[in-house]
Amino acid sequence: MWKGRFAEEQSDLLKRFSESVSFDARLYRHDIQGSIAYAAALERAGILTADERAAIAAGLREIEAEITAGSFAFRTDLEDVHMNIEAELTRRIGKPGAKLHTGRSRNDQVAVDIRLYLRDAVTGLRGRLRDLQAALIDLAGRHEDVVIPGYTHLQRAQPVYFAHHLLAYVEMFARDDARLADAARRMNVLPLGSGAIAGSTIPIDREFLARELGFDGVTQNSMDAVSDRDFACEILAALAICGMHLSRLSEDVILWASAEFGFIELSDRHTTGSSLMPQKKNPDIAELTRGKTGRLYGNLVALLTVLKGLPMTYNRDMQEDKEPVFDSLDTIDLTLALYAEMMAAARVNPVRAAEAVRDPLLLATDLADYLVRAGVPFREAHEVVGKLVGEAARTGVPLNELPLASYRAASPAFGNDVVAQVFDIPTALAARKAVGAPSAVNVRARLDHWRQALA
Ligand code: ARG
Repeated sequence: MWKGRFAEEQSDLLKRFSESVSFDARLYRHDIQGSIAYAAALERAGILTADERAAIAAGLREIEAEITAGSFAFRTDLEDVHMNIEAELTRRIGKPGAKLHTGRSRNDQVAVDIRLYLRDAVTGLRGRLRDLQAALIDLAGRHEDVVIPGYTHLQRAQPVYFAHHLLAYVEMFARDDARLADAARRMNVLPLGSGAIAGSTIPIDREFLARELGFDGVTQNSMDAVSDRDFACEILAALAICGMHLSRLSEDVILWASAEFGFIELSDRHTTGSSLMPQKKNPDIAELTRGKTGRLYGNLVALLTVLKGLPMTYNRDMQEDKEPVFDSLDTIDLTLALYAEMMAAARVNPVRAAEAVRDPLLLATDLADYLVRAGVPFREAHEVVGKLVGEAARTGVPLNELPLASYRAASPAFGNDVVAQVFDIPTALAARKAVGAPSAVNVRARLDHWRQALA
């Protein structure tokens, strides 16, 4: 592609070092899409005849079909996907192929390719997020009555519907979706036509190109256009955060599937055994998901680090953007798909949930609220209930079985009905009516909301 200037063959080691086709070949569809549009722009600029443009488009379609079929031989000595496709096109159709790169550089070519690729990839991932949300909604909806302890500090805190807990993740994945949508919207401007750095003397109609390729507009500075990878950073950041959410869900799943909690059982299809211990049923999907968060964070930091010291404009360092980006896309894609499957097949154990939720201490706060309703200041009520909890712990008598005399001694504001009024889980939950709180009515409404939103 540049033999004019050189007298010697490149070192084989350099070829191995600098080739990217082994990982950027996956851009082929978008590279061809960009080239076909670019050929149309070259025709409008008077560089190609209609026949030449048609020959280019037909040649590229043919190459595309062969790559898809797996019969195209990529050559690492041609460095990257761009040069592989262009060289083969020219080998096949001759002169028109050799005109395709007029006014174009691989700098604006790769910039447009990645944006096109990521646009599709993000659309795919957003679908995956919706599928997982739907699986969580479905699991929640099938167990609307199940109540589990909610935890803070991994200590039992207050009762919540299992559905409310799952809905928390649905909210998180909705934010992941919004972050991806936002990044995709900002990314959707065309860099092609910026040339290597300073545009071209050939009059390329960039607005036309943008329309052809489905961009909302064109970049406004050719130097920025070829050196900008912000969109890749934004998407990697969104995927890192999504990974963090998946990792937290994994932690809950791992706990819930343990003998100690036993709130859910994962299906045989989504668990692994032990080669030594016959009884084991391990939540490896959740553990691997948690583990893969490391590479998702790493990929973000890798790209930010690649970019941080680069002077304007394109520098070859930027070829290092691809592997982290592809790795994060692949990781999240498979994880989301697998997670949706695993959650859809998970079985809830209402008996174990009911056992855990029988712990009367989960309603200690409600006991304090009872006093508050009788006019006792909350700080005082908190202390009164704290003493009763202490007495229960000392005597081994459950909080809701302490004699009425103990209650009355702790505070004269306790009425005879205190135990019956406070220690009933459905009543306690029904009282949590504020927006976002887990009353049965609220949880049902939120399930309905998501069912509609995801439909
Ligand atoms: N494979 C290169 C990359 O991904 C394409 C752009 C190369 N540009 C250049 N001037 N060497 O960054």
